[in-house]
Amino acid sequence: MPFMQWTEMLAIDGGTVDRQHQALFDAVNAFHDAVAQGQERTAVASALDFLRTYGEQHFADEESALAAMAYPRLDQHRRQHQQFLGQVAVFRAQLLEGGGGLGHSMSQFLGSWLVNHIMVADKAYASFQRGSSGRLKAYDGPSEASA
Ligand SMILES: [Fe+2]
Ligand SMILES: [Fe+2]
Repeated sequence: MPFMQWTEMLAIDGGTVDRQHQALFDAVNAFHDAVAQGQERTAVASALDFLRTYGEQHFADEESALAAMAYPRLDQHRRQHQQFLGQVAVFRAQLLEGGGGLGHSMSQFLGSWLVNHIMVADKAYASFQRGSSGRLKAYDGPSEASA
């Protein structure tokens, strides 16, 4: 049983965004496992580096999609992404300074941030997109999508 498990409740677009979110869950799980296995500081930090790199890519993709749909809350959304990346950088520095005992609370924070962000902020742009485009996405399920 992985630490973080993506479920359909977190679905945003039934496609690329969901796959990227699943990969972010995998990255948090890899970090969690590295901490739980007591891996060396550098290995734990590099698990965090992967999360940062992949997160930057996902956030950039999402922000350009939001810009393309003229999403009115793009700035707030981008700030949340930046805060997350800032927190990852702080964690990385703490780990390398020897704060290995903080690993569990770090993975808790990263996991719950991700779930909350998807459930609230990402869902908000998904519903804006459905409303503004007038198109129903796979996310809505087959009954509505086929109507
Ligand atoms: Fe987002
Ligand atoms: Fe996202």
